[in-house]
Formats: sequence, C-alpha cells, structure tokens
Amino acid sequence: MNRILVTGGAGFIGSHTLVELQTAGYDVVVVDNLSNSSAESLRRVEALTGKPVVFCQADIRDRAALTQILKDHPCDACIHFAGLKAVGESVEKPWEYYENNIGGTLVLLDVLRQQGCKNIIFSSSATVYGDPVEIPITEACPKGQCTNPYGWTKSMLEQVMMDMQKADPEWNIVLLRYFNPIGAHPSGTMGEDPNGMPNNLMPYITQVAIGIRAELGVFGNDYDTHDGTGVRDYIHVVDLARGHVKALQAIERQCGLAIYNLGTGKGYSVLDVVNAFQRVNGVPVPYSIKPRRAGDIATCYSDPAKAERELGWKAEYGIDEMCRDSWNWQKKNPNGYRKD
Ligand code: NAD
Ligand code: WQD
Repeated sequence: MNRILVTGGAGFIGSHTLVELQTAGYDVVVVDNLSNSSAESLRRVEALTGKPVVFCQADIRDRAALTQILKDHPCDACIHFAGLKAVGESVEKPWEYYENNIGGTLVLLDVLRQQGCKNIIFSSSATVYGDPVEIPITEACPKGQCTNPYGWTKSMLEQVMMDMQKADPEWNIVLLRYFNPIGAHPSGTMGEDPNGMPNNLMPYITQVAIGIRAELGVFGNDYDTHDGTGVRDYIHVVDLARGHVKALQAIERQCGLAIYNLGTGKGYSVLDVVNAFQRVNGVPVPYSIKPRRAGDIATCYSDPAKAERELGWKAEYGIDEMCRDSWNWQKKNPNGYRKD
C-alpha cells in the first residue's frame, strides 16, 4: 500500500494525520473543499515532513471531480475525514448536515469502488454511543440515541459501511470512533483553527487564555461526577493521527470490517482540564459556571484495549502534553492559519 486518498485532509485531524502518513512512508492525495479549513495547513505539513502533498480542491459530493482525481492519482486506500462537525449547527441545519456528510460519503464510496479502491478508514465518533450504557465504553457497547443530526450522520454512515462490507467482503473498512481530540503538533506550526466562536472546550480555553474571549463558561456543575462538571476522554491529536497509520496496517492485513475506539481510557472533568491548563502553562483561565448545555452527557470515556490488542496502538501523550501543545499552537498562531 503506497498512495492514500485523504478527504478532509486540510482540517484539524486530517492535517496531523498527513504528517504521520508521510513520516511512515506513504504518499498522500488530499481532497478538501476548504469549507472549514485553509490550504495553509497543507503547506505546514510539507514544511514539517519535507515531502509534497498533492492537493485537489474539490467537494466529495462532486462525482465527476472525484472520479477524475482517482483516475489521475490511483489510490490504494482512503482515509475519510471530510464532513461538517459542528453539533449545534447540525441542529439548526439538519438537511445541510445529512446532505453533506451522508450524500458526500455515498458518492465517495461509489467512486472508490468503481475505481477499484475498496479500502477505507472512516472518522466516526464516540457520539454514536449516545448516553452510553457502560463506562468505560468498549466497542461492544450498543450504539445509542444520538442527540443531534451530526451524531446521526456518523451512526448512519457506520451502518451504510457495515452493510456494504457484508454484501461485498472485498471491502476492508475500519470505523474509528474518536473520543475528544485536542492538542496540536508539538512543533507549534499546526493545530485546530476553528471559525468564529469555538464549540469545543479546548479551543475556547486557549482563546480565553490569550485574551480573545473574557471567560470560559463551564456548562453545568451538577452532574454526577467527581466535581460536578462533565467528564470526557481527551486524546492528543498526534496520538489520534498515529492510530490511522495503525489502522492502515490492519487494512494491509485484510481486516474486513473492524471498529475501534481511539481514546486514552482516562476521564477528565471540565475543571480538571482548566486546572491542568493553568498549571502546565502558567496562564490564568477565568471561568464561570453556566447552565448545562442541551444534549450533553455527564461522563464519556473509552476502554481503548481493543485498539492496543489488535492494532498495537496506544495513546502516548497525557493531559499535560495536550494542554502544553494546544497553548503552544495558540500562542504562536494567535489568529490560526489565516492572519499571522
Ligand atoms: P475539520 O472541520 O477540521 O476537518 C474536516 C475537513 O473536511 C475540513 O477541512 C473541511 O473543509 C472538509 N470538508 C467538509 N465537507 C467537505 C466536502 N463536502 N467535500 C470536501 N471536503 C469537505 O474537522 P476535524 O476535527 O478535523 O474532523 C475530521 C473528521 O473527524 C470529521 O469527519 C469529524 O466529524 C470527525 N470527528 C471529529 C471529532 C472532533 O472533535 N474534532 C470527533 C469525532 C469525529
Ligand atoms: C467537552 C466538555 C462540555 C465548551 C463534541 C461532540 C462529539 C465529538 C467531540 C465530533 C463538555 C464542556 C465545552 C465550553 C464547557 N465531535 N464545555 N464549556 O461535547 O464532549 O463532544 O466534540 O464527533 O460528537 O459532541 O466536546 O469539547 O464540546 O465539550 O463547559 O465552552 O466541556 O459541556 O462537558 P463534547 P466539547
């Protein structure tokens, strides 16, 4: 396996995965419509690895463009990151989320099989477990009721791919259920670059720390957790990226259908993260307690043992490195990729 098609490769997780793929010796072809990213991230990848990224600016819903890209650059496997991911926005614009994420993936899967590339790794999410019936969450935990259209796109696409693999066992399909990716490349040259008001905790914290926002709102302190705030399984984006390289190796071994949690197995509350960030970086993060956010659950963390057992993958970075690298990126790139 040599050349990998990476949809959504200009985005946060995609760009970090490109670095790990190139470092492991793979060639990469990126398809991204830049709806939530900037091509500058790809230049940063090239600067880090010293290897070229083939970039095709295109929408995965554009069948003709995708077909041409695969004819011009035949690929052995696809890592499929492209999609819209803002939970709140998906509640406001469900049709746009179903059309982009589900419509786009259906086109992609069809073009891939027509071009003879039946190997795919899909960015799924812990959100498919809904309010999980077991903690820590193993892959055997039943999928649950999602609380938003974004989550349903992941849940439904998993089903689509499972059904396709069952009908055509030539497919190798790895569904990776990410927990909460944060952190940034340790070089400080690549990181998360959200548009407008961040939806997620860590980018909000870094924007408060640098003074773009006055204070963090902590969404609820009356959950049944050790300090009342929500507990999540934060995972360093570089660890997550490396998980994709391990998943590719599983595909090379002909894995059929495989599902893995990618998390650390450790749960941290909102206040644990705020405290770790302040301690590691020596900067204050003012916060105040706000009402619970609709759709949030109290506790969500993984049992990542299956990925370790079968892929030989294990998260190496802890919460301190996640806080350090998120802040390093924010400090060095106060306006993200666009304006520094
Ligand atoms: P991101 O928004 O940074 O990256 C997604 C990329 O896909 C962007 O570059 C965007 O421009 C591109 N894109 C969107 N629609 C497209 C389309 N129709 N055609 C071509 N390109 C398109 O997000 P991310 O955080 O890097 O997430 C990557 C994937 O992982 C997504 O599928 C996301 O749902 C999933 N995921 C993310 C998280 C998280 O917390 N970041 C957690 C679980 C799963
Ligand atoms: C983490 C914790 C919040 C912001 C989301 C998606 C999930 C996956 C990862 C894509 C929670 C609290 C947050 C803030 C806060 N994405 N919080 N103040 O909700 O666990 O997961 O991203 O697949 O599908 O739902 O992540 O970072 O938004 O929140 O107190 O300003 O931080 O309530 O407890 P979440 P998050």
